[in-house]
Amino acid sequence: MLRRLHPDQPESFAFTEANLAWAKEQITKYPEGRRASAIIPLLWRAQEQEGWLSRPAMEAIGDMLGMAYIRVLEVATFYFMFQLQPVGSVAHIQICGTTSCMICGAEDLVGVCREKISEKPHVLSADGKFSWEEVECLGACTNAPMAQIGKDYYEDLTVEKLGNLLDALANGDVPKAGPQNGRMGSEPKGGATTLTEYVNASITMNASVQLAHDIGDTIKRIDGTEVPLKAPWNDQSGTRSV
Ligand code: FES
Repeated sequence: MLRRLHPDQPESFAFTEANLAWAKEQITKYPEGRRASAIIPLLWRAQEQEGWLSRPAMEAIGDMLGMAYIRVLEVATFYFMFQLQPVGSVAHIQICGTTSCMICGAEDLVGVCREKISEKPHVLSADGKFSWEEVECLGACTNAPMAQIGKDYYEDLTVEKLGNLLDALANGDVPKAGPQNGRMGSEPKGGATTLTEYVNASITMNASVQLAHDIGDTIKRIDGTEVPLKAPWNDQSGTRSV
């Protein structure tokens, strides 16, 4: 897919005071002569501020970093996480269309977006509240099919669930992110099948920690002496014990 600058561009761009201070701070993390390395965080912050990356925003960041505009453009057009056109004021829906999600129904989810938002991706809904696009694997394949909305993942989606999700967002609600079929994380649908004796998500969930508790706080050496069990979770110094 060709990624071009949007034909309608704003006149100018300026970071808010707080974002400008943050951006300057980021730049100091890189040594003189290597400041261009701050480009990704600065572009990302500009996008968070405006919703998308305009040409004036890219040029302003290029000026801050002493970079040729074409180099900023190269970065912004390379990474799909950067939106080069206005997105919905409420939400931009990114439907994963890669293998796992495709097999599990991503095309049907795209159908929901076509019906409820706009026939084509990257086109605002009639009320300007939503936009959508299909993206490559978002790394939540075990919870396919899924969509990213803002910084949240909504997983184990169905046509009905995505429809309800869009309705809720339109009404000003922010539905709980994560699996939408009731499971926790990416555990099996029927519940955990391993470490089932360690329940309730307490410290005992971790078998290694449970073992340390079971054998006590000391450990017997071969010569019969007893020494404290130095475990990372007991170490108050902040350094990991061995
Ligand atoms: S294939 Fe959809 S998250 Fe990986």
